[in-house]
Amino acid sequence: MKLYLVGFMGCGKTTIGQALADRLKLPFFDLDELVEAAEKMTIKEIFAERGEPYFRMRERDILRSTRYLEKAVIATGGGTFTFEDNIQFVESEGYSIHLSAPFPLLRSRIGEKAAERPMFRDDLATHELFRNRLRFYNAADLTIEVREDQTVHELVERIVLELPRGVLTAVVDGAAH
Ligand code: S3P
Repeated sequence: MKLYLVGFMGCGKTTIGQALADRLKLPFFDLDELVEAAEKMTIKEIFAERGEPYFRMRERDILRSTRYLEKAVIATGGGTFTFEDNIQFVESEGYSIHLSAPFPLLRSRIGEKAAERPMFRDDLATHELFRNRLRFYNAADLTIEVREDQTVHELVERIVLELPRGVLTAVVDGAAH
């Protein structure tokens, strides 16, 4: 059983994913980092030199390579869980957790690293993208509301509490919960 973290840019998939993996004593993988390692380029460079369709193709391939992992926490990219085939893959391979945050919070977090995020054009376009993507994210198995005043530790504990018993026992071997 694998846990896939999904949600818009800035919701904390990588930070929460790493902390959740530590908490459950599972290996952690970040899809964007795997794509960057495979391409030997940053996401920004891949978009600039090869274009978005190429990035989406590599993102798809790398997502599918998680098939060979048995138990893991995987942080997806903000666009991964917005394509039907990727959604179906995640559904068949594991359990999806949507980190849901209000747009203003996401906006302020994205702003810190806006230059590294090719999908961030301007506020209006990004808000539109967010609205269009919500229906996909909302199809995740579990939605966790991210609030600004919550620590990473608190969020991780909430996720662990809200995971169905069967999922929790399938991802850990007893000792971690
Ligand atoms: C994207 C989000 C990014 C990265 C790429 C495309 C998107 O991931 O995969 O820039 O389409 O929203 P993060 O959500 O980790 O920033």
